[in-house]
Amino acid sequence: MLRFIAKLLIFVVICIFSIQYWLERKSYLFDEEAVASIARKHVGTTDVKASFKKIIQTFRQRYPGHILPPEHIEWVFINAGGWMGSFCLLHASLTEYVLLFGTAVPTSGHSGRYWANISDTIVTGSFMQWKEGELSNVVYKPGDTVLHVWGDVAAVSWAEGTWMVEYGRGFIPSTLGFGLSDTIFSTQDFLTMYYVLRVYIRALLQETGFLWVDFKNVIKNAL
Ligand SMILES: *[C@@H]1O[C@H](CO)[C@@H](O)[C@H](O)[C@H]1NC(C)=O
Repeated sequence: MLRFIAKLLIFVVICIFSIQYWLERKSYLFDEEAVASIARKHVGTTDVKASFKKIIQTFRQRYPGHILPPEHIEWVFINAGGWMGSFCLLHASLTEYVLLFGTAVPTSGHSGRYWANISDTIVTGSFMQWKEGELSNVVYKPGDTVLHVWGDVAAVSWAEGTWMVEYGRGFIPSTLGFGLSDTIFSTQDFLTMYYVLRVYIRALLQETGFLWVDFKNVIKNAL
């Protein structure tokens, strides 16, 4: 039994180091500034719905084939860390995601501690962040990009009508545990859980075609 646990532990540690090695060396489709600059064009909008429509169009033009098709663009509730929000996934793979996020009611709670860097560019509303170890908060406004580096933790609070564009880079499957935490242990809204998993799986399936192309290139270059 003890030997089994030791082997399992060694296996987990090797996995973590391999994934970390891969994350630090792989190339990425998106970057923080590219995503933020698309969001910033719509700062101060009075019609966030229309702005989001344009933002999705822009992403579709710049990253052809990597954005979910219109029939799979949907708003899904998310309950985690005590807060409740809604997100609309545009792109996701094992190492990146782009989504629209926000809330129509004031909400606050725990940010989550992730194995991913997350940046949020605010389009409307305000985002209050109270970082671990600090005795005061920082309030971010439309146009600002809020960084949440992997391993960091904060209390977060969003005002009513806060909407933003979010980019995540890291080991994305690891963020699902926190993302679904309150759905599993509090709201027990398993239909929402199904929607979350469904949209992530759809996005992953969309990327498998590109993975195959990458893989073929690697083989071709090696030969
Ligand atoms: C996350 O951010 C940290 C600090 O800026 C950086 O060192 C690290 O390489 C980033 N990780 C990824 C996967 O980009």
